[in-house]
Amino acid sequence: MSRVTYVNGRYLPHHLAVVSVEDRGYQFSDGVYEYIAFYHRRMVDDGPHLDRLERSLKELRIAMPMSRRALELVIAETIGLNAREDGGLYLQITRGVAKRDHALPAKPVRPALVATVYPSKLPGAADIAHGARAVTSPDWRWTRRDIKTVSLLGNVLARDVSARAGVRETWMVDDKGFVTEGTSSNAYIVTADGRIITRQADWSILNGITREAVLTLARERQMQVEERPFTPAEAKAATEAFLTSTSANVLPIVELDGAPINGGRPGPVTLKLLSLYQERITRQTGKTFA
Ligand code: PDD
Repeated sequence: MSRVTYVNGRYLPHHLAVVSVEDRGYQFSDGVYEYIAFYHRRMVDDGPHLDRLERSLKELRIAMPMSRRALELVIAETIGLNAREDGGLYLQITRGVAKRDHALPAKPVRPALVATVYPSKLPGAADIAHGARAVTSPDWRWTRRDIKTVSLLGNVLARDVSARAGVRETWMVDDKGFVTEGTSSNAYIVTADGRIITRQADWSILNGITREAVLTLARERQMQVEERPFTPAEAKAATEAFLTSTSANVLPIVELDGAPINGGRPGPVTLKLLSLYQERITRQTGKTFA
């Protein structure tokens, strides 16, 4: 079989994996997701990803569709049934099927669970060597960005700004003029004295699992980390800038709104953090990087 997707109790050929149009995930984007990288079929930081999934569900008062142990078995089986060695495991849990009504269903409904795999989108050595470009745009999202909900319209429209500009990512800017994060990544700058600056993880951003790992690796090496907001102007004047995400790991940002950062080249702090993060992946999965 080619691509296999789990949906509500069954492993199906991907094209047969469907959910109801009455699912509240479809009607109201009432649901959450996770995206976990795997290499050699072994996942990176699956524990923290599943912790975040449980937290997102709790914040939205959606029940876990099964025990954590059962969910781990579904994930392992989904990766096992697909031919891919490296990729991304996508999990989505929506509230389930109920009569269309803004009020949450009075009686418990069975949440819908989907697990599927996507090809890896990891930047290659050339992408890293060149670095990526970003542009800014207003942050149009709601105030609970800490929840990994499938309500991604604000992210989608902001991403379209960079897509139309032909660059990799959009750094979204809040109404006070500070960068929150990228549309699917966290945002960082490095100051002239080597401090790593990234916005504090409150309701204003999604606290990335990669973010937590990279900040831990940095602190373990006595690198200075400052969790606070920064402006696009500070980013343009910074020594380095980069993003982190499950799908991109650590990626240098060498240009913001057309202004070069570090002369348009990846900087040493960014490349150090990338190599520390790659070593972490190697320890967990055996995957090696050139
Ligand atoms: N992006 N911020 C937003 C808005 C995101 O959607 C993501 C994840 C992140 C980084 O989180 P993590 O490090 O846990 O992936 C931050 C998707 C899943 C991705 O591109 O991997």
